[in-house]
Amino acid sequence: MTVSASSQIFADRIGRIEVSATMAVAAEAAKLRAQGVNLVDFGAGEPHFPTPRHIKDAAIAAIEANFTRYTVVPGIPELRKAIVERHATDFASDYAIDEAIFTPGGKLALFNAIQILIEHGDEVILPVPYWVSFKDIIQYAGGKVVFLETQEAENFRITADAIEKAITPHTKAIILNSPSNPAGSVVSAADLERIVHLAHDRGIFLLLDECYVYLNYAGKPVSGGSFTWAKEHIVILGSLSKTYAMTGWRAGFALASKSVTANLSKLQSQSTSNATSIVQKAAIAALTSSQECVCNFRAEFIDLRDYMLAKLTAIPGITCTKPEGAFYVYPNMSAYIGKGGIKTATELATRLLHEAHVVCVPGEAFGTAEHIRISYPVTKQNIDEGTRRMGEFLAKLA
Ligand SMILES: Cc1ncc(COP(=O)(O)O)c(C=O)c1O
Repeated sequence: MTVSASSQIFADRIGRIEVSATMAVAAEAAKLRAQGVNLVDFGAGEPHFPTPRHIKDAAIAAIEANFTRYTVVPGIPELRKAIVERHATDFASDYAIDEAIFTPGGKLALFNAIQILIEHGDEVILPVPYWVSFKDIIQYAGGKVVFLETQEAENFRITADAIEKAITPHTKAIILNSPSNPAGSVVSAADLERIVHLAHDRGIFLLLDECYVYLNYAGKPVSGGSFTWAKEHIVILGSLSKTYAMTGWRAGFALASKSVTANLSKLQSQSTSNATSIVQKAAIAALTSSQECVCNFRAEFIDLRDYMLAKLTAIPGITCTKPEGAFYVYPNMSAYIGKGGIKTATELATRLLHEAHVVCVPGEAFGTAEHIRISYPVTKQNIDEGTRRMGEFLAKLA
């Protein structure tokens, strides 16, 4: 089928988005792996730990108890209670059970929130570098992405002043992801409070992607949910994927006002219905049991971040900001772009994959031209081997 024929068949909205770059990289890597190539994988955005035992046991018990039927769309009340109580304990938020919805993955919570809030032409402020899916999900809904540039020299910090300058009469929403994917930048508590005021006073929605909120290495994690007076304009998007090493389970949630939550539930009722019943039981175990596993994961990620940064910046020409959270580093590769026929970060990542057998994601996917994203939840041996391969490959270009 030709492209023009296909564009007559398919709806305009599907033509506005791309396949997620991280998924595309994973697919390319899988092809090479199937051919027997030994890859060092810095591409995957997920913890390398297995899901903790007590969470798996809860899911197994749910199967054995035949807890395998449909549930109510937003998740069983016991789970929604666990979500609001966990959030209240950790961040002094104040959500009722019907202000929480459990979703099959945090990405769906985000997708649905954008669908119910954004009209054609609405502006959504998105700080750069951004996680790949934000842009496409906004565009799928017909929204206009207003990119907010940040400075690498300032650790890609997002400030209230910068947000204020980007607001126009057409601004419907602001997306913040702190700590961020890919740069690990954190919005300070003071800036967050000012941004909440800015949004609330103007009737702008603040979509707060807190998927890495527990992986904040800069200080005590903060959540926009603490600003209970602004609940009407705040949508918290949460995920169990990274916090509890549960990426494959598809477990996310949203916390928002009753009217936003009711509309999220309405949309979910016409698509996925409830998230998997068994996963709901596992999520209760994750949220209500001891949070020691989260502390342990966090400590190991800090150690791996420092190890990865040291190895990477020992390669001549590579500079890198120090991420304050999440589990990625976002090195600046401009010293090598323009060398050996490599013109873009995408070409660099492609050559690293095929020639050095190292998987990473090019910066273009996150809105910057000179970086690559390296995910460090791997073993130290893998960090040694991957950075050795990168160093050798890059040395040949120099
Ligand atoms: C910033 C951000 N938000 C949301 C998600 C989605 O997480 P999940 O759908 O696995 O809950 C991811 C996953 O990589 C992410 O990096």
